[in-house]
Amino acid sequence: MINLNIEIGKKMKLNILVLGDIVGRPGRDIIEDKLPTLIKEENIDFAVANAENAAGGSGVTPVVVKGLFDSGIDILTTGDHVWKKKEAIPVLETETRILRPANYSPLAKGRGWVVVKNHLRPDIAIINLLGRVFMSPIDCPFRTVDQILEEVSGKAQIIIVDIHAEATSEKIAMGWYLDGRVSAVVGTHTHVQTADERVLPGKTAYITDLGMTGPYHSVLGRNKDHVLEFIVTQMPRRFEVADKDVRMSGAIITVDGSTGKAEGIKRLVVHGNN
Ligand SMILES: [Fe+2]
Ligand SMILES: [Fe+2]
Repeated sequence: MINLNIEIGKKMKLNILVLGDIVGRPGRDIIEDKLPTLIKEENIDFAVANAENAAGGSGVTPVVVKGLFDSGIDILTTGDHVWKKKEAIPVLETETRILRPANYSPLAKGRGWVVVKNHLRPDIAIINLLGRVFMSPIDCPFRTVDQILEEVSGKAQIIIVDIHAEATSEKIAMGWYLDGRVSAVVGTHTHVQTADERVLPGKTAYITDLGMTGPYHSVLGRNKDHVLEFIVTQMPRRFEVADKDVRMSGAIITVDGSTGKAEGIKRLVVHGNN
């Protein structure tokens, strides 16, 4: 049987960039500064980033989302902080390129997965899930992803899953659950990159956490002095977003679009200028 995708000249080996939680203006600025060069140098075909902390350290707004798309991000995922700014709701209602976790109530605004079509490459599905361990109650991410995969079947050659979760065990379990069924399972939320990237036996790329795209002279992106004051005194304290040692963290996944199988996963940290 002739592979129609090859016949019409689609690019079938894709480099997909996935970036961890973007924190505030420093995170957005390093994407604006460094992403265009990275896309050229690493031959990136498609870029996904988690934006749950992109606006002021928590949530998203229309302006922030537009800026990230203008910088070269194709699809934004989010997580437990998605609703922190009320401006997120109209964005999620109208913009198909930003997702909220699929296992929120079906009555919640927005969408939890999307298929991106482009005549130059295979169709790519992105699915956003939220974990349940040490997180607020939410529907089962495992049964939710099963339902989505039934719908996605036949609609996308490549499937990327962002499992936004606290517990490493839950994320690893999701990797095994989806091994051989999706192209990649990548973790977000902890803001700390893990050194466990690998391609699982079923050819699903996996990493427990992509790490943070934001300021590292901080506690998970927030001013370290503010966080320490709170921890030591136990008095309420507003945590401002930090601003030093900004880095862009994530991974590049190489996928064969004719099979949807991952061929490799490479961890990535790009340092900013301060
Ligand atoms: Fe986060
Ligand atoms: Fe989160």
